[in-house]
Amino acid sequence: MGRKLAAGNWKMNGTSADLAEVKALSAAHPAPSVDILLCPPATLLARMSDLAAGGALVTGGQDCHAEAAGAHTGDISAGMLRDAGATHVILGHSERRTDHGETDTDVCAKTAAALAAGLIAVVCVGETEAQRDAGETLDVIGTQLAGSIPDGCTGATLVVAYEPVWAIGTGKVPTLEQIAEVHDFMRARLAARFGDTAADMRLLYGGSVKPGNAPEIFATSNVDGALVGGASLKAADFSGIIAAL
Ligand code: G3H
Repeated sequence: MGRKLAAGNWKMNGTSADLAEVKALSAAHPAPSVDILLCPPATLLARMSDLAAGGALVTGGQDCHAEAAGAHTGDISAGMLRDAGATHVILGHSERRTDHGETDTDVCAKTAAALAAGLIAVVCVGETEAQRDAGETLDVIGTQLAGSIPDGCTGATLVVAYEPVWAIGTGKVPTLEQIAEVHDFMRARLAARFGDTAADMRLLYGGSVKPGNAPEIFATSNVDGALVGGASLKAADFSGIIAAL
């Protein structure tokens, strides 16, 4: 396994004034020992990428269309994200799956488009609270992994984020045993499908990660970093998480 990854997802938050956080974050981590990714709303992507250029921080989109171009009002292609300076794109976040009805098949097509455009895909999976309570967690994760990830992925092109839907923005976090169970399961499933390169696929945990709980989460089996929402908006909070990796 190579370097760990601290990924921030700003979701639908942030305007020009918030770019000051990016400057502060870059200044605080001139030569970090982990990779740092920030995924702002599309309106800020190019400016954030310009700000980050030459530093350690890289940028990503939060979604892309499965097609390269065309009549899709409001949508953004993977190539456009690349053009705006992105190196990564988050795909299949549970908020996209819920708000926009994205299926595993949709996510798989988008992931293929991202890879074709030269982006690294950060594919999200996660169970709802009802699914966990029903004992379906590993079945749900297995189905999402199988359906959302196209053939041909490698440790250099695919990151997987495990985000229990019930832990996102709620302050609720699974036990370390629950996180380890899912991450070990994901590693095994990816290895069965992709072979040796699966050992290099970074598996992120996401859902209410804060500076205070980051150290124990990062010490958990097969956790190679985090996908952070709320605590990535402020450089001070995100720095605390980066420092724990
Ligand atoms: O993409 C990030 C996740 O949805 C986690 O969000 O850290 O605000 O819980 P959160």
